[in-house]
Amino acid sequence: MKSRKIKENIYWMGSVDWDSRLFDSLIPLPDGTSYNAYLIEGSEKTVLLDTVDPSMANELLAQLEGVSKIDYVVSQHAEQDHSGTIPQVLEKYPDAKIISTPKAKGMLGDLLPIPEESFLTVKDGETLSLGDKTLKFIHTPWVHWPETMVTYLEEDRILFSCDFFGSHIATTDLFVSDEGRVYEAAKRYYAEIMMPFRGVIKKNLEKLESFDIEMIAPGHGQIFPNPAFIMNAYRDWIFSPPRNAVVLPYVSMHASTKRMVAYFVAALVEKGVRVELFNLAVTDIGKLAMALVDAATIVVGTPTILAGPHPYAAYAAFLANALRPKAKFLSIIGSYGWGGKIVETLAGMIPNLKVEVLEPVLCKGVPSETDFKALDRLAGTIAQKHKENDLNGDCD
Ligand code: FEO
Repeated sequence: MKSRKIKENIYWMGSVDWDSRLFDSLIPLPDGTSYNAYLIEGSEKTVLLDTVDPSMANELLAQLEGVSKIDYVVSQHAEQDHSGTIPQVLEKYPDAKIISTPKAKGMLGDLLPIPEESFLTVKDGETLSLGDKTLKFIHTPWVHWPETMVTYLEEDRILFSCDFFGSHIATTDLFVSDEGRVYEAAKRYYAEIMMPFRGVIKKNLEKLESFDIEMIAPGHGQIFPNPAFIMNAYRDWIFSPPRNAVVLPYVSMHASTKRMVAYFVAALVEKGVRVELFNLAVTDIGKLAMALVDAATIVVGTPTILAGPHPYAAYAAFLANALRPKAKFLSIIGSYGWGGKIVETLAGMIPNLKVEVLEPVLCKGVPSETDFKALDRLAGTIAQKHKENDLNGDCD
């Protein structure tokens, strides 16, 4: 694809990756992604903001055909999907300076062959004049690496945000046209990438409040002509209390746990609690991550295997622990044949979660009436806890 004009002397460059289905060999990309770079031509200086994943280097280099001079390459984030083509860009424009935070300079030096003398580091709030355009660099650490920054183009009131506010979508639309679709993709992105750092991101969001932003141009996905849409979504995901919902990832081998889960879902719904159910044998892990953004309670359903939880359940616990959602309560339900340590093992895997652990329900073999009554009690406890904490989002 050729470069595309956003505003006078400001262009989208980069590549749309329609085929990728997994990012970092971990994160599902059901809709592909894009790697966005931006070219800003000031009256005196020309800047390239970020580059593209090295697998797409040729596309960016083709777009740069005819651009006779790049004075600066701004590297907002050292991860290679944005920085990986800097060496080829430098080969084409050997006099260009790489602008980054001091921390990014060290990280870029670790990851890419960039000569020391090419770097120019910028302080938080520092500006750079391009003649009739001015860039302001705003340090925003931990979105989602420690070195990240965003860039505000003062005259055009555009915030270039790299991963911050990004979404993995491959499309030919330059601007957001379907907010529903983008909301889903951006929430998935937030859940998988940003949620572990929401405490720091909160501060970064607050830092951006003082800027008059007309447009947000992220490093993945489409440009936001209505910045309030994505900023409000981030505020909700970060600041709002968790909702009256249970996220229930489970796995079952011989249907005992499955029967417990089915009964438990019905009991929760009867008590007015929403449930997001995920069969870990087939689920899209990104959907599970999205559900973790809002839910007040996590319940893991697992059979016992080799004295511990099923590996899929262990994976879900590991994921929840790493993503640090704002859940307040956690429990475990499942079955066992002759014994085991499901509860101890899973409880030991979630040190990052600040949750109250509610009495688990484990049954021997096939669930009995006694076990179903215990599930009723657990559902009642969850509903009560949600009520006491004034959590909204009743199940209709
Ligand atoms: Fe899009 Fe953190 O890289």
